[in-house]
Amino acid sequence: MIVVTTQEELRSYVRKWHKEGLSVGLVPTMGYLHEGHASLVDRAVASCDRVVASVFVNPTQFGPGEDLQAYPRDFEHDCELLEAHGCDLVFHPEVSEMYPVGGTATFVELLNDMPKQLCGVTRPIHFRGVCTVVSKLFNLVNPDKAFFGQKDAQQLSIIRRMVSDLSYGVEIVGCPIVRDEDGLAKSSRNTYLSAEERQEALVLSRAVRLGEKMYKDGERSAFKVVEAMKAEISKSSLACIDYVSAVNLDTLEAIETLEGPVLVAMAVYIGKTRLIDNFIVGA
Ligand code: PAF
Repeated sequence: MIVVTTQEELRSYVRKWHKEGLSVGLVPTMGYLHEGHASLVDRAVASCDRVVASVFVNPTQFGPGEDLQAYPRDFEHDCELLEAHGCDLVFHPEVSEMYPVGGTATFVELLNDMPKQLCGVTRPIHFRGVCTVVSKLFNLVNPDKAFFGQKDAQQLSIIRRMVSDLSYGVEIVGCPIVRDEDGLAKSSRNTYLSAEERQEALVLSRAVRLGEKMYKDGERSAFKVVEAMKAEISKSSLACIDYVSAVNLDTLEAIETLEGPVLVAMAVYIGKTRLIDNFIVGA
């Protein structure tokens, strides 16, 4: 597996592959990789000739007071996982390689309400940072396909919209949430949880299962499903709900009836750790 740290090296490998007629898949990550990321690489390897993964903790998507400095990092382990899953090239730039000293003057930002909903309420600059770095990666790699996890469902919907608005010639592939055996969605941030908090964090997946069951049993009131999920989460004394919301999957607009493609998403603090989870129906 090739490891590169500069934009120039990355471009030159990818250009060569494109010239040879090979398709290229991109898996953007912030590192501290787990089986969720591995599943993205597996999907990419299965459908592209060459797979590029990026490992970059992107500062522009962290707000003041968020966990940028504390964000877990283990590049050696990341490389082992990526290589074991058949990744061809890892791009691991320094911040100074991606952004000029003094910061970027250019951002890519959706100007509709999509980045303001759900996580955007408490993380107002987050999706601007995500769209900017993902745009840069698309410009560098020019991938045929790019792979993102459904756990970050709002991110996925926003990236799909950005790709459509800016006419990027990349197919966005959304991949299912990967969970631990007991249901907890895999996340790099799970590492912040104490043993007790990890146990309590299972309220998120229990709420997901409850919501899914209510939908399966015919309930179509978004209010009833969301309230039942909130009640389930509130059973944990360590859980503090940021939001539980039902929205249209494509537009992220709040909905009253669970009809069409619907995302039911939540963010919940377990102690100091903010975790997200969701399920999608009707897509
Ligand atoms: O989902 C993530 O890990 C990040 O938001 C991404 C897409 C790699 C951009 O930094």
